[in-house]
Amino acid sequence: MTGTALHHSTLRDELSRLLEEARERTLLLVRELSEDDFHRQHDPLMSPIIWDLGHIAHFEELWLTQNLDGPIEFSEMPGLYNPLEHPRASRASLALPSFPEMVSRLEQIREKVLERLERVDFDAENPLLANGYVYHLVLQHEYQHNETMLQTLQLKHGVPYNAPRVDRPLVSGTTTEWSGMETIPDGHYSIGSLDTTEAYDNERPQHQIFLHAFEIDRAPVTNGAYMEFMADGGYTDPRHWTPAGRVWLAESKARSPKHWEQALDGWTSRTMDITAPVDSDNPVCHVCYHEAHAFAAWAGKRLPTEMEWEVAASNEIESSRVRAYPWGDLLTPADANIDQLNFGTTAVGSYPSNVSPTGCYGMIGDVWEWTSSSFDSYPGFRSFPYPEYSEAFFGDDYKVLRGGSWATRPGAVRNSFRNWDYPIRRQIFSGFRCARSL
Ligand code: AVJ
Ligand code: FE
Repeated sequence: MTGTALHHSTLRDELSRLLEEARERTLLLVRELSEDDFHRQHDPLMSPIIWDLGHIAHFEELWLTQNLDGPIEFSEMPGLYNPLEHPRASRASLALPSFPEMVSRLEQIREKVLERLERVDFDAENPLLANGYVYHLVLQHEYQHNETMLQTLQLKHGVPYNAPRVDRPLVSGTTTEWSGMETIPDGHYSIGSLDTTEAYDNERPQHQIFLHAFEIDRAPVTNGAYMEFMADGGYTDPRHWTPAGRVWLAESKARSPKHWEQALDGWTSRTMDITAPVDSDNPVCHVCYHEAHAFAAWAGKRLPTEMEWEVAASNEIESSRVRAYPWGDLLTPADANIDQLNFGTTAVGSYPSNVSPTGCYGMIGDVWEWTSSSFDSYPGFRSFPYPEYSEAFFGDDYKVLRGGSWATRPGAVRNSFRNWDYPIRRQIFSGFRCARSL
């Protein structure tokens, strides 16, 4: 075998292993759901779980069979599983197959995909195939829908979701004090990714920006700090809220993060099937952008821009080298609370290696962090391979979130990864940290 051919057979094996692993996880997450659980609309914001499964299957079929052989179809699959044809709230009324039928559909498609993978020519001019890009796109798509499914399962009707928790021993009792802020000096900094294997179009091109000096919280805002804001009348003092935030507050009547309940002796929060007293040391989760903004205003701070966040997470200020993850260029399970199976946040400091070169803890893992930035293209952006992933969402309607949550799979998060949602959404696993101009 030539060196290149050998390299390609290794890539093929790696991709088929990753595809299998992704599917194993998807099926693990839904292993105990009933037919009713699969088909029910648990919340108007979310699809029935069976729809996510069909959408995962057909997205894979589209990109890893059809689009490899013909012209790139710049729309997602037609019909039932096309998100653009059917808004989430209407998906329960579609004629969706039973779970056993869906499993055989997933298997049929996967068989075609693996068979096609055997014959794929990674040397072809097809830009979808360079470095196995389109396979990573499909993998990340399945990972992202896993997190979406977990949002749905957290909103589940009927018996609570029996979460397949894995108890991972945590290094506890760390003595590091994570309160306070780190200072980042003014300067030119690198933003975005050079990677052409996994990075989405919206992370490219890598480019330089200028930032004024700022401070950023060394850790995400904890439940303890958030409860001080609540106790201080944070939800009822209009001075902390933006006009849109006040509208949301009046309509939602929110007085605490989502999935919290007031008990006789304090607050409890629920993650799937476990309700427990709110843990003061864990990052606050299930808050919307407006709540994050209000907390920051109350604290005399503001939310970081996504650029400030990324610099704090990735920049080795001295050398201006950028890291793929806060702790370095490789991700291991010991580095951060990600990958779902903890089913919940962990106390700030639980992952001692999870520190960025600027001294910030937990920029990846536990909770997605709201930034003050709208989701927009970087200068020189080119849509690839389809505009419906990123480009269709650019503009002022969406705020950027960074850093991944406990429910994010490792392949779907890195320092340059950009997530986005409406500023009123809080069924997502979202928290924040604050910043301040100097
Ligand atoms: C990046 C999480 C906003 O769920 O709408 C899934 C991910 N895109 N299928 C979304 C996505 C296409 C996307 N977010
Ligand atoms: Fe999708």
